[in-house]
Amino acid sequence: MSKKSSSVRAAPVAIVMGSQSDMSVMTAAGDALKKLGIASHTAIISAHRTPHEVAKFAEGARKKGIQVIIAGAGGAAHLPGMIAAYTELPVIGVPVPIGPMQGTDALHSIVQMPKGVPVATVAIGNAWNAGVLAAQILGTGDSKILDRVLGYKAEMREAVLSSK
Ligand code: RP5
Repeated sequence: MSKKSSSVRAAPVAIVMGSQSDMSVMTAAGDALKKLGIASHTAIISAHRTPHEVAKFAEGARKKGIQVIIAGAGGAAHLPGMIAAYTELPVIGVPVPIGPMQGTDALHSIVQMPKGVPVATVAIGNAWNAGVLAAQILGTGDSKILDRVLGYKAEMREAVLSSK
């Protein structure tokens, strides 16, 4: 997914999605990570249209230095679950609202994973929260990231308390 050689460590968070049409929703994950000072790489891979590439990406992700994977898809959204089946890394799923069911189909596809193969699922269309959750996961082992997460939470608290 990175254009760099495989010997170069990847960004700690990979943001993947099933189609270019998911990009307008998924951009918010990268925005949240950027706010929290965390690099990410974005790629389009499809569980249904490029299954071999999905398997290859997920199996090789940890060795590349990826620590958390955010995966978004709409409709019959199998991408996050398929990735979770191929990796021991934490996977965060984003149900993308498309078509007549506007994400309720994707939500159920992503959240209903079998025992032992979890996908941490955020609200329909809420890619921002996927970015924040990825930062919180990384923050458990990195005090600088934890400080930035705490700063963000303090910002939100101030915004609520100062609103009239
Ligand atoms: C899913 O099908 C994608 O994640 C996207 O949300 C949806 C529609 O894809 P396109 O037909 O727009 O490429 O796999």
